[in-house]
Amino acid sequence: MSNENNESKMNGINKMDKTNNVNKTKISNYPMVSPTPIVLVGAETGGKPNYAAVGAFGVVCLAPLFYVSLKDTHYTTIGVKEHGFFSVNLPSADMVAKTDYCGVTSGHNTDKSGLFASFYDEAGKAPMIAEAPMNYLCRVVNTFPINGFTIFFGEIVSTYAGEQFLTDGRADPQKISPILGMGTTYYRLGDVIGKIFQEGKSFAP
Ligand SMILES: Cc1cc2nc3c(=O)[nH]c(=O)nc-3n(C[C@H](O)[C@H](O)[C@H](O)COP(=O)(O)O)c2cc1C
Repeated sequence: MSNENNESKMNGINKMDKTNNVNKTKISNYPMVSPTPIVLVGAETGGKPNYAAVGAFGVVCLAPLFYVSLKDTHYTTIGVKEHGFFSVNLPSADMVAKTDYCGVTSGHNTDKSGLFASFYDEAGKAPMIAEAPMNYLCRVVNTFPINGFTIFFGEIVSTYAGEQFLTDGRADPQKISPILGMGTTYYRLGDVIGKIFQEGKSFAP
């Protein structure tokens, strides 16, 4: 091992062998360094709407199925378990303060029900946020407990979008302007850099 690598190990940094021809440094195993949309997960808890900020959210498959990972002690989790429904509300960048507020306060000791105008769909009991550009009502179809969290798999049973966030009837990302989280910072959506399922077709390795 080279002197440089020995020194790095002593500093707690494990530099990869330069002969691999990559110049990388191992850093801490912190999952929030991958960019993710921040959503507001809604549930009816204690007879009232409650919302929590969530970054552990994503698409499982086009079935259509989402997943959200919620800490078991969250007030929101109680409502999701009670009613078997949750909502995923996609906030826009101008909702960043309210979104963060839902991530730093708990329904256990703060009433968040008046923070937004809530509406419901007849398919299931989970509140949705009127001012959020998009809302998905999800029926819990499966759960997976892990490390004090439960991953809820939710079938999307209803989707709503504000008229002003659509172009030709489709959700328009630039109009929605979602909140992205990476590390400890919120970002907004950047420029278009390509078309999905198109860019690879013209790429010649
Ligand atoms: C940006 C951000 C992302 C978060 N992501 C998650 C998450 O993925 N899962 C989770 O259980 N809590 C997450 N939290 C923490 C909850 O939002 C927070 O603990 C909240 O107070 C829970 O509210 P409740 O007790 O009213 O449900 C996140 C917080 C913030 C600010």
